[in-house]
Amino acid sequence: MNLLKQAIIEKGKALSDEVLKVDAFLNHQIDPVLMEQIGKEFAERFQREGITKILTIESSGIAPAVMAGLQLHVPVVFARKRKSLTLVDNLLIAKVHSFTKGETNEISVSKDYLLDEDVVLVLDDFLANGQAALGLVDIVKQAGSTLAGVGSVIEKGFQPGGDMLREQGIRVESLAIIDSLANKQISFREE
Ligand code: G4P
Ligand code: NA
Ligand code: NA
Repeated sequence: MNLLKQAIIEKGKALSDEVLKVDAFLNHQIDPVLMEQIGKEFAERFQREGITKILTIESSGIAPAVMAGLQLHVPVVFARKRKSLTLVDNLLIAKVHSFTKGETNEISVSKDYLLDEDVVLVLDDFLANGQAALGLVDIVKQAGSTLAGVGSVIEKGFQPGGDMLREQGIRVESLAIIDSLANKQISFREE
């Protein structure tokens, strides 16, 4: 997706060989015009899948997921990382291991919003080691819903998450795939 790649090049910053900062449009300040285009791109790629719901995880997955939900006219559910005051029972829970933080946390979604007849698109901002996506896929399975695929705004192709999911037979659509951040140079995978 050219508009996204352009934003990554112009506004993104490689903090190291592994981490891309995109606070200017995705992780802190949000560019709604770019998000709208991102939503349209996800909707186009998954429009024939009969999606009835989008599942993401707070916080940075929400903006692109809502834009995709707007285009597909389906509700967007976000998994919570912390226990909520009102969301206490009837929960689907998955464990998510963070390699960077070296810790495992639980994410949760109410059973009320993921039903066995749902066809679910899992979306997130980044796809790196794929642990968050795996947790969301696990929750879709627990709900008895059908998984349509996983979409990410930015996939770090040099980390194993995307290929790990593809090897499981999951359809993965990433709007930009970064092959390398070596020497703080951002290079994209050719499509
Ligand atoms: P991982 O081990 O599976 O790679 O995931 P980890 O839990 O370490 O990732 C921590 C957070 O960093 C996640 O967001 C993830 O989306 C994000 N992330 C991973 N790689 C990059 C990167 O190169 N650049 C940026 N900007 N983010 C990255 P989070 O903590 O859940 O935060 P948020 O969704 O509230 O923003
Ligand atoms: Na995220
Ligand atoms: Na994030």
